[in-house]
Amino acid sequence: MSGKISNWPSGWPKFTSKESNTHDAFELELKMEILKTYGAENIKKAWVKAVCNLEPVISEIAAKGNAVIPVLTYDQVIDATPETVATMQTSGCFVIRGVISTEEATSHFAELQKFVADNKEGITGWPASNPAIFHLYYTPTQLKLRTDPRHLKLQKALNSLFHDSNPQIEPSSSDPILYADALRMRAPGQEFLGLGPHIDAGSTCRWADKAYRASYTNIFSGYPELYDPYDLGLRKFANLRLFNGSAHSSVFRAFQGWTALTGAAPTEGSLMLLPNIKEVTAYLILRPFFRMPADGSLEPEKWELDLESGWFPGTERDNSQMLSPESHPHLRLKETLVSIPAIRPGDTVWWHADVLPLR
Ligand SMILES: [Fe+2]
Repeated sequence: MSGKISNWPSGWPKFTSKESNTHDAFELELKMEILKTYGAENIKKAWVKAVCNLEPVISEIAAKGNAVIPVLTYDQVIDATPETVATMQTSGCFVIRGVISTEEATSHFAELQKFVADNKEGITGWPASNPAIFHLYYTPTQLKLRTDPRHLKLQKALNSLFHDSNPQIEPSSSDPILYADALRMRAPGQEFLGLGPHIDAGSTCRWADKAYRASYTNIFSGYPELYDPYDLGLRKFANLRLFNGSAHSSVFRAFQGWTALTGAAPTEGSLMLLPNIKEVTAYLILRPFFRMPADGSLEPEKWELDLESGWFPGTERDNSQMLSPESHPHLRLKETLVSIPAIRPGDTVWWHADVLPLR
């Protein structure tokens, strides 16, 4: 995947109210229902706290760049100390090196290239003319990787970063299940036109599905500092696919991840992530309830409750949650979406269900 390309996607929409057409009666009613349930004063209190708590986090990421993304070895994760666990949980995204050996990764890559060449006629992908995402889910190589004992052990360790505060009903398990995802392969220097900043695990359903919404109760109630992104107690009942959409998985993916079969450096179109899960999520969840003041100030006290529109910025029912520097200005995305450190064949990268990736 080597070859220098630009990092920011060209033509990504701004998702500002002017150009959004999602002012729907349903969304307005939804907003009003949430305001009624939790109280406007609590939501205002939550917003001011969330923006204030976010600020130092964002400034630190902007200052340090991708040095804030934890880079760990396989063994460090398998035998994680409490400090390592805390680091991983706070960031919500990390690189784990050497999950499979360089030799194995390189041989897997050659095998995949051969599979694609041998089956060229029957394989589709996106963009259709020169795919970077291949609609391949069950090639022998992908299955080998997914069932690799080291990979499975690692996934169990990552799932264990979550806990279940409600084990009496449908208790959660850290055992991984095999999730079939597509294959990505870009020629050196090939621009990837696809995904700008987006968060999977649903979009409108975060607010519209009662169980999903309840998992954010601390945020809505005015206590974003008490929100625990790793508690499955309520989240396990969330309907991620309340609305249909090809981007919506009905399965809760604790983490999404990549296994690198080739190397890639930050300037080569590799993944970008916004580290830190708790403060960013609180901001994302509260953002639709507030309107930017006419003077463009980012001071949270100056932002007013938006009681008139059903506009949820970047939130379209059938798509992933999308963001832009304009729709979510406090995130300073152009400075804080940082490229993952250079990865080598056999390394993996992981991000929590609510973490924001680009690509
Ligand atoms: Fe995604």
